[in-house]
Parts: sequence; C-alpha cells; structure tokens
Amino acid sequence: MASGESSAESAVTPGAVRVALLGCGTVGTEVVRLITEQADDLTARVGAPVELAGVAVRRPHRHPWLTETHGHLVTTDAAALATRDDVDAVVEVIGGIEPVRGWLLAALAAGKSVVTANKALLAEDGPTLAEAADASGADLYYEAAVAGAIPLLRPLRESLAGDRITRVAGIVNGTSNFILSAMSSGGTSYADALEEATRLGYAEADPSADVDGYDAASKAAILASLAFHTRITASDVHREGMRGVSAADVAAARRLGCTIKLLAICERVVDEAPDGSVAESVSARVYPAMVPDSHPLAGVDGAFNAVFVEAEAAGQLMFYGQGAGGAPTASAVLGDLVAVARNRTGGGRSPRESAYADLPVRPIGEVPTRYHVDLEVADREGVLATIAGAFAKQGVSIAAVRQTGGVFGAADGDPGQARLTVVTHSAPEAALSATVSALLELDIVPGVAGVLRVEGLGRAVAALGMGE
Ligand code: HSE
Repeated sequence: MASGESSAESAVTPGAVRVALLGCGTVGTEVVRLITEQADDLTARVGAPVELAGVAVRRPHRHPWLTETHGHLVTTDAAALATRDDVDAVVEVIGGIEPVRGWLLAALAAGKSVVTANKALLAEDGPTLAEAADASGADLYYEAAVAGAIPLLRPLRESLAGDRITRVAGIVNGTSNFILSAMSSGGTSYADALEEATRLGYAEADPSADVDGYDAASKAAILASLAFHTRITASDVHREGMRGVSAADVAAARRLGCTIKLLAICERVVDEAPDGSVAESVSARVYPAMVPDSHPLAGVDGAFNAVFVEAEAAGQLMFYGQGAGGAPTASAVLGDLVAVARNRTGGGRSPRESAYADLPVRPIGEVPTRYHVDLEVADREGVLATIAGAFAKQGVSIAAVRQTGGVFGAADGDPGQARLTVVTHSAPEAALSATVSALLELDIVPGVAGVLRVEGLGRAVAALGMGE
C-alpha cells in the first residue's frame, strides 16, 4: 500500500499505548525523536510501552529523515490515522483551525486521548474540544500550547485549583521577544532578527501571527480561561503587535531606563460600587510596553518566556524557560503524553474544563495603564501649559515631563521645535486616546512620535528625575 493511501501499520506490542502523530515539522520531529530515543524510560515511567502507530504529513518527500527512519509509519491521511482502531492517543502539532478541528473532534468522539499544541484552535473553540472529551471520557491535554517548555497550564489547572488567581502576565511569544531583544542590543535589524527566529524554528508558519500579536492573544485567552474559570476567546483579547515598535521607541525606552517587551496581561478586575457591592470582570490584553530594567521581565531575552502568576494565597509565582523551538515544545508534548499513557494504563482522567465563573470581559477603553508619550512641539511660551491642559481635560494625570532639543537649530525668529516626553499616571486607554487625538489637533504639536504603555513602573518615573 502506498504511504499516501490510508493506514501506515506497525507491529503492535501487547499492552502498548499507541500514538498517532499529526504533523512532523519542527516540534513533531522532536516528538518522534524523544519517543524513539527514550522508549525504555517511557515504558518504565508509564508502566507500558508508548509507541508510534503512525505519523501523518502532507508531503512525505519534504521529510527525508522521517521517511528514512520511520517510513513504514508515514501516511498522508491524517483523518484516517486519527480514528484508527489501533490508536489510543492522538498528538497534534500541525496548528491552525481547519481541518485539524474536525480530526481532533473525530478522534475524541472515538475515545482517543488528545494532546495538542494548537493554541489557535484552543483559543477559538476549546470548549467544543473539552465537551467532546467529556462525552467520550477521553483526555485532552495542551501544555505545549502556551510558553513552550514551561510547565504553566498544569499549575494553573491543577496545582493552583484551590487558590484564587488574580493576575497572569508576562512574555509568551518567543519570536517577538527574540526580535525585540535583538533590536534592544543593537546591530540587528527587525528583518534579520525575524529571519533568524524563523531559521531557529521559533516563528509560526506565518510569522505575522508572532509579530502582530495573534499568537500571544491566543495564549492569553487560554491562560485567562484557566485562571478565571471563564470562557475567554482570542477575540476577547485586546491585541496590539510589536511591528510598530521603532528603533526610536527602543532608544526612548533606554533613556527612561526601560526595555520594550510584548506583554500578555490577564487580570481579574474588581470594582467596588459606592453601595459596597462588588463586580468582577476579566481584562485580557496583548501589547508592547516599556518595562523598567529593574523588573525581572526586562532581563528575559531571546526566545525565552516568563510569566508571573499572582494568587491570593500563593502570592507571586514566576515561571521562566524556553518558550519556543522544537525540543522545548516537544518536552511539554511528551509530558502530556506520559500523563495520557498513565491514565490509559492505570486509570484516571485529565482535569475537566471549568467556566463556571462566567465573568464579563472588561473593554480595553476602561483599562488603566501608564503611558509614555513622545511629542514634537513648538518651542515657545505657553506650549507646556496648553499640552498639560489637553491631558488634564481628559482626566489624565501627568507623572513626569522632560523637554529635549529646544533652541538648538532654531533660526532667528523661528521658535524651533522641541521633543516633549510625558509619562502619565495610570489612565484609562480611552482617556489617553482622546488626549492624543486632541493633541494632534493643536498647531503647536506637529506630531506624536510615539505612544507606548509603561508597565511595572515606579522606577521609570524616578529615572526622569521626577518621582511620583
Ligand atoms: N511562535 C511561537 C513563539 C512558538 O514564537 O513563541 C511557541 O508557541
């Protein structure tokens, strides 16, 4: 039978947990390697052999190593492999919504356990997968979907299940962090850094998912859903990518003693009304922000990820490690596969999904943050007062102001231009946007050179020589 037709068969070891692998790119290749090379250890840890039943790839000729070493397992028919009788567990490392969703739903309906790294699918339709798993009693694990090798979802789902999580925030996209780190250290252009991240296997098939924040938004949706027991989809997450971060922004951050990072922030927001009643909501957002160099996130470089979790009883926890790449991501996949295999052999099930809290999503316009606003302004009397008035009119309080440039280069009779850097106290996004629109209407403001949020402040304001 030709490899493309249907079933790739292998000898079945009695009692073995049989695995169908869908996809064999950067991560899949490492999954095959680990299952093969660590076969004896896996058998000892699980109590039964874990063996590959088949590997589905679209174009076998693009996988010479796989076809040479495991040619008898290769098939192009992923749908058939996912539901084959001799398969116990399906590992999916293809990504994207369709046709993968249909294959995984069919596998779950047929009682196969599923391990997936597919953040886009989980962020869009996780509950449907979870319902299918519940209906058949199959397992659904997805540690590799967020932050590569870092054990993060299992702590949220299991270890912290008895606590009340208030915040999950950090760096969850290795590619954009790799690029921002390269830009910050100087000498590497955005394009070269992106090419290198792609070569190293960090970037998504379409790297715009990384640099435009879609990948981080999917991960934020998964994190927020688990942390707050509320169904959050990627479309609930406010998303701004890092493509617009310029060398000038990086330099401005450096002057302020900050580093720019693409952050994913998921928060439980508690509002207390004057009558004492309390309303809770969830804010989930992804954007580039300045972080003070003294903050632990500022030192997270390259493809590393770091996530802070805050819970009422546990306090602050920090998770740090390799967030992208074949072997680190495969490590998370294998961890899930061992859990599935143990459940299959010894009894037990993956934790059930829970969305009982059903909290509303806080609109981004109502979310307060500090801002760094770089303005080009006319350098003459009254300008500062007018600009301060524009901020005040929208209720945005200024924490620090620095003027640079000024008289330098101004011709006789020409007041010239200056650069005005304003750092605000915490203000709602809507108020800051309205302020920037109003500033752009002013003749004395030829341009707004940059607007960036500032997270984890305190020291950055002090760096301007003007404490809070
Ligand atoms: N493209 C992703 C990243 C891979 O750069 O973080 C891990 O999900």
